[in-house]
Amino acid sequence: MIVTGAKAGIGGACIGVFRREGWTAFGVDIQEGADFVADISSYAQCQAAVAECLRQHGRLDALVNNAAIQTYGNVLTTTEEIWDRTLGVNLKGQWLMSKAAVPYMTAGSAIVNVSSVQGLASQKNVTAYSTSKHGLIGLTRSMAVDLASAGIRVCCVCPAAVDTPLIHAQYDMVEDVDAFRSALNRQHPIGRMAEPREIAETIEFLAGPRASFMTGSIVTVDGGMMSPLPGSHE
Ligand SMILES: NC(=O)c1ccc[n+]([C@@H]2O[C@H](COP(=O)([O-])OP(=O)(O)OC[C@H]3O[C@@H](n4cnc5c(N)ncnc54)[C@H](O)[C@@H]3O)[C@@H](O)[C@H]2O)c1
Repeated sequence: MIVTGAKAGIGGACIGVFRREGWTAFGVDIQEGADFVADISSYAQCQAAVAECLRQHGRLDALVNNAAIQTYGNVLTTTEEIWDRTLGVNLKGQWLMSKAAVPYMTAGSAIVNVSSVQGLASQKNVTAYSTSKHGLIGLTRSMAVDLASAGIRVCCVCPAAVDTPLIHAQYDMVEDVDAFRSALNRQHPIGRMAEPREIAETIEFLAGPRASFMTGSIVTVDGGMMSPLPGSHE
């Protein structure tokens, strides 16, 4: 299997969970130290990553499209550069990795896209990020329909807050980190953020044969965040 964004957070946890379950995991990241260093917004680099995985392991049973960047800005403050980079990595990058991988995937294999609860609803000030995550749900459904006859399943997970470097990067923007983390925890009826492993467990399930009748599925892994009636929680 290939997981993108393997050097941190959820992608790193995927490497551990998939290996524990007996998969051969091949990590791709823009950061040095991954099994293959590539920027997924480049089709040539996606093709090179898939080729290297096939050279080393001979087959490709699953692709986890996990890499993304978090950016900020509303409709007015988002620059074209931020928009293009955010959509280029978070949406186009997932499509390009899929485009590079699908020709080598056979019946019984699967793709799992990592969207977000911000693919289902939006906070303030995340126009490009939320748009990319909504787009990923469309990409999931479109690929699920197109690839069903080839026996390739395509699913999507929508995590709420997960305790990863993506969240830690927001510490510089707040005055009180403890208060920030505590407010984030309280947004989930379960009372806490997710650990990366908890998202990786769901991804591994969706990628494997136990999820054989699931395709086009959009799975929230959110500690209950999307369940309360507006205003009813807390
Ligand atoms: N952490 C959260 O609260 C949260 C919530 C919902 C959804 N998500 C989603 O989960 C996924 C993983 O998030 P995370 O929290 O583990 O993030 P992270 O920032 O901890 O890790 C992301 C990884 O992707 C890599 N990456 C970034 N741009 C890349 C590129 N162009 N090419 C290749 N690799 C690249 C980074 O180097 C990093 O290793 C993302 O799609 C994110 O949007 C995260």
